[in-house]
Amino acid sequence: MSKIITYPDKILRKKSKRVDNFNDPEIINLQNELIKTMLAEDGLGLAAPQIGINFKITAIKLDNKATVFINPQIIWKNWFNKQLVEEGCLSFPGIFGLVKRSKSVIIIYQDNQGKYKLFKASGLLATVFQHEIDHLKGRLFIDKIVKYTKGEEITKKLISQADDGER
Ligand code: CO
Repeated sequence: MSKIITYPDKILRKKSKRVDNFNDPEIINLQNELIKTMLAEDGLGLAAPQIGINFKITAIKLDNKATVFINPQIIWKNWFNKQLVEEGCLSFPGIFGLVKRSKSVIIIYQDNQGKYKLFKASGLLATVFQHEIDHLKGRLFIDKIVKYTKGEEITKKLISQADDGER
């Protein structure tokens, strides 16, 4: 199990690289670590930068089972039907807030063999996918919080500690 990187560590703001070599032991190990760590921390999803490695891989809980999505991209989102969901993030302990995102999305991704697949997510799962794919672009949910439900003061302190001046 890996240590979770917490904000304002700069790794969380870096753009992740595409995975090309699906047989690379580092990539295979990264998938296993993501799954193990997400299950141990009881998260709904975990992105590779959160364990310190900037590759486009995320583990997401589907029907209580951890599934790995490699090079995930949103190819369609419902722009007209949005939902406000309370989000948290393992990289932001004690911080929760409402975030507005599309109620349904279609993702293209590669599985652990490199095979391209489509996935349609709606409701809470759509929020999870958008949150995790944001991580792979260096975007964080605090950028999008409409209203804090917990930890607003802590977040403001952390943002001021982020020495690059960016959130
Ligand atoms: Co997160």
